[in-house]
Amino acid sequence: MGGHELFERSQTLAAIIRKAASVHIVTHIDADGITAGAIALQTLRRLGKETSLECVKQLDATVMGRLANENHELVWFTDLGSTIATQYPSIQKIITDHHACPPDSNAPFHLNPHLFGLDGSYEISGAGATYLVSKALDKQNTDLAALAVIGAVGDLQDRRFCELRGVNRDIIDHARSTDTLSVVQDLRCFGKETRPLPKLLQFANDPFVPGLTGREEACSTFLQDLGIRLKDGEEQRRWIHLETWEKQKIVSALTQMLLAKGFGHRIALRLIGENYLLIREEIGTELHDAKEFATLLNSTARYGQEEVGLQVCLGDRGEWFAKALNLLRGHRLNLVEGLQFAREEKIQKRSNLQFFNAGEGIRDTIIGIVTNMMLNTEEVDASLPLLGFACTDNGEIKVSARATQLLVDRGLDLSVALKTAAEMVHGVGGGHNIAAGATIPKGKEEEFLSLVERQISLQMSA
Ligand code: C5P
Ligand code: C5P
Ligand code: ZN
Repeated sequence: MGGHELFERSQTLAAIIRKAASVHIVTHIDADGITAGAIALQTLRRLGKETSLECVKQLDATVMGRLANENHELVWFTDLGSTIATQYPSIQKIITDHHACPPDSNAPFHLNPHLFGLDGSYEISGAGATYLVSKALDKQNTDLAALAVIGAVGDLQDRRFCELRGVNRDIIDHARSTDTLSVVQDLRCFGKETRPLPKLLQFANDPFVPGLTGREEACSTFLQDLGIRLKDGEEQRRWIHLETWEKQKIVSALTQMLLAKGFGHRIALRLIGENYLLIREEIGTELHDAKEFATLLNSTARYGQEEVGLQVCLGDRGEWFAKALNLLRGHRLNLVEGLQFAREEKIQKRSNLQFFNAGEGIRDTIIGIVTNMMLNTEEVDASLPLLGFACTDNGEIKVSARATQLLVDRGLDLSVALKTAAEMVHGVGGGHNIAAGATIPKGKEEEFLSLVERQISLQMSA
């Protein structure tokens, strides 16, 4: 039902694009944003339109004021924009977004799954929403579907069911029909193509494996005890190098470890899930697995290097790709250091939430990723949502909030909580029920926390 309306809306947006000679794309700084931007850019170029593109952290009054002054013929907001859908009438715009939005933001130029009863936290991403318009403009654009899968995986849309669902499934079918994507059941750990085996297990966090996660030595011993060789000659073996029996042995040992620790089948089953492979890419590179591809993209725009990510999406495997690999090294280091830093900060518990303040210690553009990783660690109580605070370059405070599906099922909606609280302290916020963010003025942290607490308490008692 909702899918059909979404499809109709994509036709309406396509008609607006056809009439424009020049389009300015505004997109988000994460993997979903970059893939969305790349899809939009490629689509417009194929139509012979004049194009430009920029990446932003969020749409605040400064960005919107500037855009209004720039007098673009048409602005295409991808992976963001729903929050301003009813504002700035002077800007001619179309929006392909998937963040939570109220029904009164429905408009012919606005495509968002939430307007049609679909959930944008797992049924379709910003890149997916953008792809629908691309496909409506030209059926040949199915070759861009794989990018939309990377965007969805980058946004962790497969997390809820250990596979992509909803409209994402149609997009997967399009990608498969162009021989760009294959879907396989495999271990869900990150880094099967590029990480040495012990590192692969060391970073396992969904599920977290007590005794192994966070402990490289223990992971090596665990593998050796199973009779798994860690090296082939001088080369460290990775998951992709393993024989089927070796993989099965590891998975069943991990399952037994989880069950022995009392985690239950539901958790143990999360070890395995759908993996999305970009079959035109070389095996064993950062591009072959959609999760790794998404992380590569996160290493670019989150550090102000969106051009790098964009060029990789558009197909560069030379100079830009080399730059991306360099950035990836820095990004990985920042995540490890950020996690370390967050661990040393004390997590402060309140009745309805818990938080940590990273100050200048963690970049505002990766505080969300670190908060997510923190919520998956042993020492954090998963029965409360976790908020991370970090300072931004211009002296404001960035907040990232993350929760579990269980809390969402009980009524928690972080998007509403953060948006409402942020607006009350003259900030901006939004996102998804399970993951949301906000930017607020410095000095308002305490007031903001109390407001978020009140929102959560209302939600959980409703
Ligand atoms: O802005 P955007 O929608 O791209 O970001 C989505 C965010 O929500 C990601 O940071 C992702 O980690 C988070 N998320 C999550 N769990 C889910 C779905 C999304 O933590 N099940
Ligand atoms: O930045 P972070 O990863 O914590 O964002 C979580 C989710 O909240 C993302 O989907 C992001 O787009 C959204 N968000 C938002 N408005 C903000 C900050 C974040 O909608 N001011
Ligand atoms: Zn997104």
